[in-house]
Amino acid sequence: MDLPLYKQLSEDIAGQIRRDIYKTGEKLPSVRKLALQRHVSVSTVVTAYNTLEDWGLIEVRPKSGYYVRAQARKALALPKIMQSTPPPKQVSSSQLVMDVMRDSSDPRYVSLGAAIPSSDFSILTQLKKAFGQIVRTESFLGIGYDSTKGSDPLRRQLARRAVDSGVHVSPEDIVITAGCQGAIGLCLRALCQPGDIVAVETPSYYGLLQLIESLGLKVIEIPSDPHNGMSIEAFKLALEQWPIKILLGVPNFSNPVGTLMPDENKQQLVSLLYEYDIPFIEDDIYGELGYSDQRPKAVKAFDTKGQVLLCSSVSKVLEPQLGLGWVMPGRYLEEIEYERFLSSSSHFRLPQLAVAEILSRGSFDRHLRAARESYLQRRDRLIDLVCNYFPENTRLSKPQGGFVAWLQLPNKVDATQLYLEAKRKGVIIAPGEIFSSNPKKYRHFIRLSYANDWTKEREQAINTLGALARELAP
Ligand SMILES: Cc1ncc(COP(=O)(O)O)c(C=O)c1O
Repeated sequence: MDLPLYKQLSEDIAGQIRRDIYKTGEKLPSVRKLALQRHVSVSTVVTAYNTLEDWGLIEVRPKSGYYVRAQARKALALPKIMQSTPPPKQVSSSQLVMDVMRDSSDPRYVSLGAAIPSSDFSILTQLKKAFGQIVRTESFLGIGYDSTKGSDPLRRQLARRAVDSGVHVSPEDIVITAGCQGAIGLCLRALCQPGDIVAVETPSYYGLLQLIESLGLKVIEIPSDPHNGMSIEAFKLALEQWPIKILLGVPNFSNPVGTLMPDENKQQLVSLLYEYDIPFIEDDIYGELGYSDQRPKAVKAFDTKGQVLLCSSVSKVLEPQLGLGWVMPGRYLEEIEYERFLSSSSHFRLPQLAVAEILSRGSFDRHLRAARESYLQRRDRLIDLVCNYFPENTRLSKPQGGFVAWLQLPNKVDATQLYLEAKRKGVIIAPGEIFSSNPKKYRHFIRLSYANDWTKEREQAINTLGALARELAP
């Protein structure tokens, strides 16, 4: 990803401001001094400072220089916590989900809707080359059916990488699937019967809710908060009250809020799973995309009895079109392997080999570091833009990883109406109603995806949304 020099410089300085290396009110180096320090031209520094000014991070004081502005983002409150746990429900199927999915891939719109990773990372070029190399050198056709668990080289790489999340498994403990959604589908099919109750955190990624509905299962929504994720206490209360069959959740950087569940809560959650003998489908699709140096542990890292089925995919760290995911199903391995065979007995080996090759390289870890840094910068820019353009009292989550954020609209603005009006103006968002089985629950919320670089067009889209949010206030 080759950014122009001025942009690299502005992002560097923005990072220093975020990390409090330059504090609010502090003077930045003079243009001439910075040009000398960084071995760049004076005009590059001036353009970088102008960019930082546009981003609302610094201000010019006449005859004095450039200073760090008080960060408006500190004033944005987090979305409100939903306290109660309503009884189990059938999920209402929503045409809206398919509309959002369809529109998000339509190039005529500016999409802030779907959670698709940025395509401006050089790892994709490497992936293309890996495909070419494997086509030339490996036998992937004429070998009949592959292993019933998926290709061995990929399972070996995944077992190696799992150690970073505190999970110790052998390649034989892993089953390759059609994406993360495919992995979760296998788990639900293998372990539940129609009519069973699945507990999920709320708000919850709409793809999972739709999947639960399609299998004739019911959901019970467990409240979560933007600091700690799903409430362990509320889950315990729900377990006491209802015959819950299984729990499904995203403890590392939930979608849509971006919350990271603390280790202590993960440990408590496992104790509760043991007490009630409930399996947990852990969706760790964003686990590699945290903004701190330490990759968070999976809940599975605390599980000694094989009761956690860890699901993930390369959709958020590489490319969703690969359609490659996996499950580490613990003690349910046989059931999952059989369910995979039922769903489809043939799986193409070529992409599995290409991804195994990419995962084996040090450049994949460099890619992850660069992606995390970009997403952190883009999150902060989103916070600034929302501060600048949305009405007062707008609330926004502050994700600790991934690339989606959850916004609570003020003044009872209807999010679905906002979605429809924004679409008319060429901007796609994900309206809150699709993130719950109760379409009224998140009627004043939207999810925004900030994976892509903040081009003028995308910044303007936030301006458009903010203006609409003012207009639509009843
Ligand atoms: C939390 C979560 N789980 C699962 C999925 C689906 O993943 P995949 O595309 O690998 O099937 C998504 C995609 O947005 C997601 O956000």
